[in-house]
Amino acid sequence: MMVQLVDVVMKATRPMRSKVGLSIVISALALLSLTSWSLKSAEVDPNQLKFPQQYDSWQATEEQTERDDILAQYPANIILWAGSSFAKEYHSPRGHQFAVADVTHTLRTGVAIAEGDKGLSASCWTCKTPDAPRLIKEMGIQGFSGANFVDLGREIKSVVYCSDCHVDGSAELALPRPHAQNAMAKIKLPFDQQDRSMQGAQVCGQCHVSYYFQPENNNKVNIPWIFGSTADAIEKYYDTRRFYEWIHPISKTPILKARHPEFEHWSRSVHAKQGVTCITCHMPPATDEKGATFTDHKVGGALDNFDRSCASCHSSEAAITKKLDKTKANIDAKSRNVESLLIKAHYEAKAAWDAGATWPQMNDAIMAIRHSQWRWDFATASHGMYAHNPKEGIELLDKSTEQVTYAREALARILSQLSVTEVEYPDYSTKEKAHAAIGFIEADAIKAKQAFIKQEVDKYWQPVAKKGY
Ligand code: HEC
Ligand code: HEC
Ligand code: HEC
Ligand code: HEC
Repeated sequence: MMVQLVDVVMKATRPMRSKVGLSIVISALALLSLTSWSLKSAEVDPNQLKFPQQYDSWQATEEQTERDDILAQYPANIILWAGSSFAKEYHSPRGHQFAVADVTHTLRTGVAIAEGDKGLSASCWTCKTPDAPRLIKEMGIQGFSGANFVDLGREIKSVVYCSDCHVDGSAELALPRPHAQNAMAKIKLPFDQQDRSMQGAQVCGQCHVSYYFQPENNNKVNIPWIFGSTADAIEKYYDTRRFYEWIHPISKTPILKARHPEFEHWSRSVHAKQGVTCITCHMPPATDEKGATFTDHKVGGALDNFDRSCASCHSSEAAITKKLDKTKANIDAKSRNVESLLIKAHYEAKAAWDAGATWPQMNDAIMAIRHSQWRWDFATASHGMYAHNPKEGIELLDKSTEQVTYAREALARILSQLSVTEVEYPDYSTKEKAHAAIGFIEADAIKAKQAFIKQEVDKYWQPVAKKGY
């Protein structure tokens, strides 16, 4: 429609193609665009005009469409996360342009809320969109996190955007999320007192960090760093508060869940000590056609740009790739081993409960399962752990193995006291079998989700919520 209107104006003004004529055309167009303000396509983002290279490379994260189905790759996760939405669907991350659509479409979030049910907190929007800090300002932090994920869905207009990392309209870095401001202060790295390099890592650390929703605080996002940001320090914080995310339905363990602690792992790495940050590896310098340098905003795989990201310090890509592959294989093997031990422990605990075990008997073993699973999760929920901090990854998994072994020894004693001689373990060789073991019917969940998408998202939500679907 806008195109037709422009056409009409251009034809009507053909006789006066002078400078004056052109300005009349422009004013006429401006008037038209005022009257037809609802034509969204006519809007140009001022950040695009001012910073075209950064804008275009930011938009190019839409090329990163690939992701892995983690539950299909590692069905053991389904058993370990039983009782939580993580067991329903879990994918590896992909380009920033999909942040809103992916959280909208996953089985972990929004379906029509049942009468009387509180549903999922709007806090889930916090790390997907600049509309979250905007809504926090408008509604207050309690109002925002107390709201429902679905209720704010129609408000979400943009994916991870310039204003998530910058003072809007400028190159200056910013930390618009209150939880991140507070957290950086807790670890004595207040944002406004850091150099540009640390600030760069901190903007990523707003979202690529482990957090939880505070139940006593309307589900407000909190980063649990009062005692520090290691797995030990965070565990101490949770244990002293007697916090848990959910009770595991098989073993009755009060579970702790880690969420992608990339910032934490990086902050203790050999690279951090050398001043190498997320930006060095994931947003290396690029040059435009005129030879001017800018920061590549196509945030993605670090190895795709070895020459720009790593070559200033590492000469051989082959040697680094080989080293990374070896570390990854080692960490993967340790993870798979802990997973199988943890699953056994959950089912051995179940057998003990079924045979009449009591809390005083079980307390030690259950706490050891809690602590072991926490460390396993803290190591594996961090995407790229093998590259970010392999040493910490291996230490976490070794400690986790020790703790689950302790739990199983305690359980073996209890089982023997209760004269239990056989424990039944589940078949989790595929995603389908693991889902069956925990009684989750994926087809039903997909059906409910699709109905919700059709009735709500397709009709009322913004285009970003559908990108890639
Ligand atoms: C995920 C965080 C993030 C997002 C989103 C982001 N930037 Fe940046 N931006 C950075 C970082 C980090 C730097 C590099 C800072 C440094 O080390 O100097 C940077 C640098 C810049 C610079 C300085 C010049 C340069 O290229 O180094 C400009 C201008 C800029 N960004 C504009 C934008 C625009 C426009 C958008 C939106 C289209 C945007 N940024 C989105 C994090 C981000
Ligand atoms: C506002 C929150 C937010 C900020 C800030 C942010 N990210 Fe992300 N990032 C995400 C989300 C959400 C995803 C997953 C998107 C998806 O899978 O749909 C993601 C995905 C990624 C991926 C995976 C990309 C791929 O193609 O596989 C990388 C790498 C990444 N981010 C690095 C960074 C770095 C580096 C920074 C800082 C410059 C940063 N992110 C800042 C939220 C954020
Ligand atoms: C020394 C370089 C380096 C640093 C520093 C670094 N990363 Fe990475 N990161 C990698 C590599 C290598 C991978 C493995 C995948 C790849 O990029 O090839 C990776 C993977 C990731 C992934 C997973 C991508 C996916 O699709 O699975 C995310 C997310 C991520 N990094 C975020 C960050 C954040 C946030 C920081 C800073 C707190 C950071 N990285 C610091 C090199 C680095
Ligand atoms: C500014 C210099 C610098 C840059 C840039 C850099 N590194 Fe490193 N890297 C180091 C140093 C220093 C070490 C420690 C060397 C040692 O201890 O032998 C290191 C160690 C490593 C190791 C050994 C394992 C570990 O983490 O302990 C790997 C793997 C690695 N770097 C990968 C990468 C990759 C991949 C990139 C680019 C995405 C990269 N590095 C970018 C300086 C750098």
